[in-house]
Amino acid sequence: MRSTENDVTRHGLILRQFARQARTFEDPRLNAAFTRHLRRLVDFAQPGPQDVCLDVACGTGLVARALAVRTRHVTALDTTPQMLATGKAQADGEGVSNVVFQRGDAARLPFLNGSFSLVISRFSLHHVAEPEKVAAEMVRVCRTGGRVVVADMVVRPELPGDPDRMERLRDPSHGTILAVEAIVGLLTSAGAVLETADVFDVQRPLRPWLEQARTPGDAARQIEEELGRELAGDAPSGLRPLMVDGELCFTQTWAHISVVAR
Ligand SMILES: C[S@@+](CC[C@H](N)C(=O)[O-])C[C@H]1O[C@@H](n2cnc3c(N)ncnc32)[C@H](O)[C@@H]1O
Repeated sequence: MRSTENDVTRHGLILRQFARQARTFEDPRLNAAFTRHLRRLVDFAQPGPQDVCLDVACGTGLVARALAVRTRHVTALDTTPQMLATGKAQADGEGVSNVVFQRGDAARLPFLNGSFSLVISRFSLHHVAEPEKVAAEMVRVCRTGGRVVVADMVVRPELPGDPDRMERLRDPSHGTILAVEAIVGLLTSAGAVLETADVFDVQRPLRPWLEQARTPGDAARQIEEELGRELAGDAPSGLRPLMVDGELCFTQTWAHISVVAR
């Protein structure tokens, strides 16, 4: 059972948005941002052939499938049935047979303590209503000495603007982007020890970002106009726009963070 009215509303938005987006996650024309740094993330997680892994809020399992070819087994858990079904069909088509897709809530993982040697989650904490619960659950289900990896976009509090507002215009199920220190704090408060972090900027073309989320036309136009005005000298939006080869782009900061469970 979900605890507050706010959680119920957020969960409903997430189910609706990701039912609509499932197809775009596997469209190579639109999912470049999800595939471009995948190898960097998997290398960062240092998977081994004996690892038994969990991908939390796996979506269509892009991370899970990349991990599967380097590990013994991956459980890929998500709350949105359409994301899971799309991912399973993709895994079957690719002949990836050591991934099991399972429906569940990241804040209440249906696994006993210490079930996995590697637990990972990408682009989930900024969506969920209770990131502290998700972080604590990831650490709980990881074996002592195992690795927990969180990958997400992060805020840089020293920069002006409100990226959450822009993200929510694009996708109403967006929650709150956390700072690296906040994510590390959630994981270490859950009892894990910080190992390392890889923080880097990513420049993304605006139009495929909007199309991937299937942002309605009026909201897409508002975002594009605000970024255009910012480039002309208006107040910063938080998306750090720039032109690359005549195309309107914006900037996100991404972080890969690893901790060890005790
Ligand atoms: C931006 S997608 C990321 C998918 C995948 N991790 C990736 O990086 O390709 C966010 C995913 O989080 C899932 N999600 C959101 N809240 C969740 C929750 N409480 N429990 C499980 N999955 C959740 C959504 O259904 C969606 O598939």
